[in-house]
Amino acid sequence: MSIRILATGSYVPERILSNADLEKMVDTSDEWIRTRTGIQSRHLGAPEQASSDLATIAAERALQKAGLTGKDLDAILVATITPDHAFPSTACLVQKNIGAAGAFCFDMAAACSGLIYALQTGYSLIKATPSIYRRVLVIGVEMPTRMVDWTNRNTCVLFGDGAGAVILGLDEADNGPDFLVASDLHTDGTLCDLLKLPAGGSRAPATAETVANKMHYIHMEGREVFKNAVAGMVNSSRAALERAGVKVEDVRWVIPHQANIRIIDAVSQRLGATAEQVYTNIDRMGNTSAASIGICLDELAEAGKLSSGDRVLITAFGGGLTWGAMLICW
Ligand SMILES: CC(C)(COP(=O)(O)OP(=O)(O)OC[C@H]1O[C@@H](n2cnc3c(N)ncnc32)[C@H](O)[C@@H]1OP(=O)(O)O)[C@@H](O)C(=O)NCCC(=O)NCCS
Repeated sequence: MSIRILATGSYVPERILSNADLEKMVDTSDEWIRTRTGIQSRHLGAPEQASSDLATIAAERALQKAGLTGKDLDAILVATITPDHAFPSTACLVQKNIGAAGAFCFDMAAACSGLIYALQTGYSLIKATPSIYRRVLVIGVEMPTRMVDWTNRNTCVLFGDGAGAVILGLDEADNGPDFLVASDLHTDGTLCDLLKLPAGGSRAPATAETVANKMHYIHMEGREVFKNAVAGMVNSSRAALERAGVKVEDVRWVIPHQANIRIIDAVSQRLGATAEQVYTNIDRMGNTSAASIGICLDELAEAGKLSSGDRVLITAFGGGLTWGAMLICW
């Protein structure tokens, strides 16, 4: 029996915010945003939506494609840094919504690397105890637009909301390779200040002062993050490929985290990946953090652009700093 990706699903909210809309909100231009980031529009959650709502729709879509229901799941892992609440976890809320009473559930916080970290964890759970954990729902969901200062042009143009779900499971009819061929995950906590949400946790609980000082918004050292992102994703991708003994030309798709088209181009160029191999949707989605790779995978699957046995290299980086890469066999 091999551990396979049984299905994917995704969801982005209906409302679209274009660069032209942003021009009316802050001192920016469509030209600056497009040339410096590659983003043309992004999706924004409706006021009544929270991360668990987005995650639930993505999960339901994946379950339907897999021909499963919530009752078939043994665990739910939600990668998010924009949970509905500090607790209960967003995974608990998704469990309730999809009727997955038999699943144990928890959230993981690894910022934009969240989906890769969660895929590794879900895989390891099944691999270690296949008699107990046979099907694991992994979701990357994020509403970063709830954490950006809409008066700060440095950050508000970058992000969008969305969710991507992946169902991992034992395939009894399949004796081929596991979906996870090789991975390379890293963390450097000494760089924790480059990208952070300063207040709202135990370090600085919410007060009138923290709100007045805008400490509940994303703070980011853009250029430093950029440099670390390129180096981290390139090194991890090379390490994962080397572990697998696979050359980049033998990979069907490279899916880098969608944060900035210039980061994606720099990573692709250094890896020697062709434009045809690299999948992007940043122009339509912006940076959806932990959701980005899941949405890309689902778009490719929905478009019929993934065939059984295709090798897919996914790579991400985010606050922490966290980064990594994973070679997947579809
Ligand atoms: C944020 C980012 C797009 C900025 O691009 P950059 O080329 O590094 O631009 P800089 O920060 O050097 O700013 C250049 C100028 O553009 C200005 N600028 C920044 N945002 C702007 C905007 N939305 N519109 C217009 N001008 C803007 C800056 O104020 C600066 O002006 P100055 O030279 O007068 O000071 C880029 O650094 C980046 O993508 N970093 C990684 C961020 C990231 O991925 N974060 C999420 C991690 S998962």
